[in-house]
Amino acid sequence: MNPIVSLLGSRYPILQGAMGVICNPEMVAAVSEAGGFGLLATAFASDPEYVRAQVRATRKLTDRPFGANLQMMNPLSPQFAEVLAEEGVRAVTASAGSPKALMPKLKELGMKVLAVVPTVDVARKAEDLGVDAVIAEGTESGGIQGFRGASTMVLVPAVVDAVKIPVIAAGGIGDARGYRAAFALGASGVQVGTRFIATKECIAHEKYKNILVETSETGTMVLNLGPFQARLLASTVDRSGSGEAAEGAPRFGGGVEAMEEAWVRGKVEGGALPAGEVCGLIRSVKSVREVIEEMVS
Ligand SMILES: Cc1cc2nc3c(=O)[nH]c(=O)nc-3n(C[C@H](O)[C@H](O)[C@H](O)COP(=O)(O)O)c2cc1C
Repeated sequence: MNPIVSLLGSRYPILQGAMGVICNPEMVAAVSEAGGFGLLATAFASDPEYVRAQVRATRKLTDRPFGANLQMMNPLSPQFAEVLAEEGVRAVTASAGSPKALMPKLKELGMKVLAVVPTVDVARKAEDLGVDAVIAEGTESGGIQGFRGASTMVLVPAVVDAVKIPVIAAGGIGDARGYRAAFALGASGVQVGTRFIATKECIAHEKYKNILVETSETGTMVLNLGPFQARLLASTVDRSGSGEAAEGAPRFGGGVEAMEEAWVRGKVEGGALPAGEVCGLIRSVKSVREVIEEMVS
């Protein structure tokens, strides 16, 4: 059996990447219902009870397993982990930093841990910490990335050669070709972000989805946002105003309120909308099920 399928209990080894404020329960549940593994996002949450409510809302929509992302820069992640475990979530991804401090708690809670890694070195360290799998995320992916990295085509086989645990490929995967390529590179599964924004179930504003559909493979840019950098849709970014994230704060130029304003309510101009290069392959808004079925076809 595929090691990611046996680890997560999904039908296909396809994870829907966590995506800040647009991982609504409807989308997460639709991914799990269609055979993938949906992930709730907690990166920008500031209340454990919000996380609990998100899990309960998702559980109302599906009996299939789903997970959540814990972002290591969020100081509340240990509390979120406890709430997730109480609510029956059994797998988390750990991103934007080392899960070292959190690992004992996650293992005590019985969680499967999948660490997002940008380099071979970080993948080896994650394996040494005892994570169950790594997600090798190439620099073409949408959203936050570190200052050191490599593209999926190079990173995935390099990580596969370096570790014994299963490797999931992320970055640039949006259709059956990318899905199959990931396995050819030695990955056991894929994590898909940008393609799931342009779905009917995603809470992202129609304008965000339409820009994704219209943008070519060259229409994203990596912007320095202070403590990290992020790949964003170039057409909407206000360069002069966006490098001002407060020190250490995990925010896309303006915090959760600004993110929701742009990503969900459609005030896209200057709104720092994350997207990967794969938007050059997205030509229409589809249902989650169509995306997944086409991918595995
Ligand atoms: C809008 C957006 C928000 C994201 N937010 C998160 C997040 O909160 N946590 C995380 O681990 N990854 C986050 N990511 C990364 C995705 O989970 C995924 O790894 C990435 O999008 C894969 O590359 P792709 O965009 O080429 O599919 C985000 C990506 C996007 C596009």
